Amino acid sequence: MGVTPKRRQAGGLFITLEGPEGSGKSTQIRHLAATLRRLGYRVVQTREPGGTVVAEAIRNTLLLSSSREPITPEAESLLILAARSQHVAHLIAPALRRGAIVLCDRFSDSTFAYQGFGRGLDLAWLRAADAVATKGRHPDLTLLLDVPVAVGLARRRSARGRQNRLDRESERFHRLVRTGFLKLAEESPRRITVIDADRSEREIRAEIAALVVGWLGGTRRRPGRSQHAF
Ligand code: TMP
Repeated sequence: MGVTPKRRQAGGLFITLEGPEGSGKSTQIRHLAATLRRLGYRVVQTREPGGTVVAEAIRNTLLLSSSREPITPEAESLLILAARSQHVAHLIAPALRRGAIVLCDRFSDSTFAYQGFGRGLDLAWLRAADAVATKGRHPDLTLLLDVPVAVGLARRRSARGRQNRLDRESERFHRLVRTGFLKLAEESPRRITVIDADRSEREIRAEIAALVVGWLGGTRRRPGRSQHAF
């Protein structure tokens, strides 16, 4: 590379992985973090909801199922946004200020896909509330791992013991979520790249590595020149 990774990262970069259940994001984010670290980049790997002590506590509340007290769509959204506010303030923003590449497993697009398209909450309200939680911070690059709903749900079911409250939603809900993600990708084609995740782990891993390494070396966004709100 022409410029050292350290210098290129002066402003930090924020990359998110998104996708419906069973798209393999969590595995792929680990591979990507390892690849970038091998290339000398400073990487902070994190996830949503979660990433800080308070946000992980909110995650536990959110993913628990309680038939005695179902979580309303509004409460679900507000809890997710509360977790995001903690995450941005205490982990993401400081890491970007230090010049790291932040790799995050889910972020705002999940809120629009799950709570907006899936639950049917007003997207304009969600976007406004999300902007409060993030202080206007958008990812620089988003990889959307797209997989047909039946394939994703079958993968989750075979990963025994890992199903959460949202995994157990109806197939119709998951179809709305997937369609939502694809609509978001259509709206933001420069930021969101759709990856076909109905392939082997190895193929997806190779495509993501090539794409991100190419993007880091390319002209679309130069890390050293990227602008951050904080
Ligand atoms: P995951 O770790 O398997 O991705 O699980 C997190 C769950 O939380 C997943 O079912 C999607 C859900 N979620 C939302 O509904 N909205 C959000 O904004 C985020 C970040 C996650």
